[in-house]
Amino acid sequence: MDIKPFKGEHISDASVLFRKGYAKLRSRFPYLPDKVEKTEWITEKLSGIVEKHPGFVAIRANEVVGYMIGYPVIQELKGSQTGAYVPEWGNATARENSEDICTSLYRAISESWIDVRSYNHIISFLVNENIIETMSLLGFGMQVIDAGRNLSQPRIETKPDVVIEIGTEKHIYQLQEIDHLINVHLEAAPCFLKRCNEIKDAGDIRKDFFSQDVITVVATKGDKVVSCIRGRMHHGNTALLHHKNVFGINFGYTRQEYRNSKIATAVLSKAIEVASGDGASMCSVDFEPQNVAARYFWLSHFSPIIYSFIRKVDDRI
Ligand SMILES: CC(C)(COP(=O)(O)OP(=O)(O)OC[C@H]1O[C@@H](n2cnc3c(N)ncnc32)[C@H](O)[C@@H]1OP(=O)(O)O)[C@@H](O)C(=O)NCCC(=O)NCCS
Repeated sequence: MDIKPFKGEHISDASVLFRKGYAKLRSRFPYLPDKVEKTEWITEKLSGIVEKHPGFVAIRANEVVGYMIGYPVIQELKGSQTGAYVPEWGNATARENSEDICTSLYRAISESWIDVRSYNHIISFLVNENIIETMSLLGFGMQVIDAGRNLSQPRIETKPDVVIEIGTEKHIYQLQEIDHLINVHLEAAPCFLKRCNEIKDAGDIRKDFFSQDVITVVATKGDKVVSCIRGRMHHGNTALLHHKNVFGINFGYTRQEYRNSKIATAVLSKAIEVASGDGASMCSVDFEPQNVAARYFWLSHFSPIIYSFIRKVDDRI
């Protein structure tokens, strides 16, 4: 197998590889957007990056069997150092069990990243059977899971004792508090996500929770908002899931003392109902797997679609 620089002449073969991988994923999750098959989306994505940034193709018997390309220099990528990022559309391999192809491509691209002092490496992949093992053997850990589901209603056996309603202006100060609490939670152990820890003003909260295309659903007990899920129509959290039929959840919080009573499940159920009425055909969410309660919650309702892995290289190299 030869590893060569990714040139314009490889775009067409690379697009075919990505399309094949995506078609396989879509056969498992038919609710995924059809834009990869129906449009030139992947070809346009690759054309926008090839020969501008380092990328490599794996060639076996004159056939492109893999590619990897991304953005080599991103300031403060998950840390104070510069990092490099390969999006989910920036790689594909001919076979699922393709540890050798993936390893060879990473070896080539990571050399180009270290040359420009990019030490934090993030690579996203469409889910496949072997990718977790392959990436952990290469020194990566899981950073984020993008997950999806269709718009059937989650099953709720016992209805929680709260009112589920669309969030409105009257909830704004409760939402302001909850918005702060989620940032405190995400900055604490074991997530350690860098967040803005100032309380946002009401104007920003209004924009975040009540802009056009935003769906906010809350669970209330008296005047208290005890749980909230918010998402945006037409807006998954990654390029692949930006699509008119996707409802992308970007906020979910239940106050600590109300957790594990199926309240977020009931809120999710209402959010799905509203998104479905607004024309969505799938729902997506992203979360850090080290956020344990969030992982259990989202994975009991959603299936992983994209795994992103991170590796921090010793910056004395
Ligand atoms: C994620 C969150 C919104 C869920 O809210 P909730 O009202 O407790 O959700 P529910 O009660 O409907 O469901 C919780 C599920 O997670 C499971 N769960 C939670 N913590 C768990 C743990 N440590 N181990 C095993 N299961 C766990 C519960 O058993 C339940 O599963 P089930 O539906 O199979 O019974 C809440 O935990 C939260 O606010 N977390 C902090 C903020 C956060 O991280 N938000 C998500 C950001 S991506």
